[in-house]
Amino acid sequence: MSRCLSKYIDVVISYICRMNILLLGSGGRESAFAWKISQSPLCKHLFIAPGNAGTSAYGENVGLSLNDFKSVGRFVLENNIHLVLVGPEEPLVNGISNYFDKDEKLREIPVIGPGEEGARLEGSKTFAKAFMRRHYIPTAASQSFSKVSLSEGLAYLQSHPLPLVLKADGLASGKGVLICQTLEEAEAGMIGMLQEDRFGQAGSTVVVEQFLEGTELSVFVLTDGNSHKILPSAKDYKRIGEGDTGLNTGGMGSVSPVPFADEDFMKKVEDTIVTPTIGGLRIDQIRYKGFIFIGLMNVNGEPFVIEYNVRMGDPETQSVLARIESDFVELLMGVAEGNLKERELRISSKAAATVVLTSGGYPGKYIPGKVISGIENVRDSLVFHAGTRVEDGQVLTSGGRVLAVTSLQDTLFDAVQQAIADAGRIYYDGRYFRTDIGADMLD
Ligand code: AMP
Ligand code: GLY
Repeated sequence: MSRCLSKYIDVVISYICRMNILLLGSGGRESAFAWKISQSPLCKHLFIAPGNAGTSAYGENVGLSLNDFKSVGRFVLENNIHLVLVGPEEPLVNGISNYFDKDEKLREIPVIGPGEEGARLEGSKTFAKAFMRRHYIPTAASQSFSKVSLSEGLAYLQSHPLPLVLKADGLASGKGVLICQTLEEAEAGMIGMLQEDRFGQAGSTVVVEQFLEGTELSVFVLTDGNSHKILPSAKDYKRIGEGDTGLNTGGMGSVSPVPFADEDFMKKVEDTIVTPTIGGLRIDQIRYKGFIFIGLMNVNGEPFVIEYNVRMGDPETQSVLARIESDFVELLMGVAEGNLKERELRISSKAAATVVLTSGGYPGKYIPGKVISGIENVRDSLVFHAGTRVEDGQVLTSGGRVLAVTSLQDTLFDAVQQAIADAGRIYYDGRYFRTDIGADMLD
């Protein structure tokens, strides 16, 4: 067959295979997903539910509630959706994939994201710890206690080296982790969770964990349940203040790649963590199609798992996707069809940096509804919307994390400089962003 004819056939096939895709979520991560998906010739129509003021540039926002599976399912069938990508963890932990599996018609529509069982890797830290122990995956030593074992827990703290880490077992929006420097803090933390219901149901079991000293990074894995692809590594900056000080947030910025995650280190990550994780899921007969976000601590060159998430990170996704050159929908199809191994993942050698702009007062109380201006002045970055909405043609703030500015440049230094400069070109009352994103990686 002539090359010309085979190319023509490829074009025809890809046209026929064009898909309607439903993306669930409304944050900066979903804006980045929407941006990337909309570039694919395989995407016919993209719906984002519920989306935000920015996602409508890449597809059609639809007013669905993420945890109302019945409405989501009905929308999928009525709109001839071929693939569903789930952004945040909550619908996964609540079983959206299982809901689709149980329905005769919906069963045919692939959902990118694990079922309830797999989502427990994020939904229960006790489950994740037991999984890692069972499959010999390196992680900090730990022990779990519940309301009925409170006194044993308090006794256990007495002999535990300090500092130590207390973690609410369930989903606590990133707030359920306490690093305790003193025994008094640890006791108060445990009593707060187990007796005073400080984190509600999420804290009804508490994990006491050894403190790991090192540098953190995030590794993202895409899997069809058999094979996997490791996406670009990234590091996020969680705290509100410069120098990573102050209160924890959803994430104030990110960079990719992480310079210390070199080939040797990533080989250790793949051999001791990624492969045993995918293998462990198979051994435990947990069907898993989707992303695994592994929070790691580099302790003197050795990787340890701090946590699993069953989704991509925010704002890591913005930096990670900026560096993926291959067709992202192709990769998602590889997951859906179980042939991810045959799909290509091409990663740019350039570096990406993301700076998150927040509402004044975040992560505490803030006043939404501020008019955003200056996005058109951004020179060489992508602007991903997060907490925004449109009213009377104006873009207004509507959340704590408002926008994410992502720049892709030849060096990490240039990417960081550009993202910070472009963040400064955007204005609204109370605007705040950190100017030291990536600074610790630049020495
Ligand atoms: P997690 O919600 O498990 O990611 O924990 C939130 C943050 O607490 C992490 O990003 C780390 O900065 C810190 N952390 C969690 N576990 C440990 C640990 N075992 N040792 C040191 N720091 C930890
Ligand atoms: N950036 C951390 C997270 O998405 O959980």
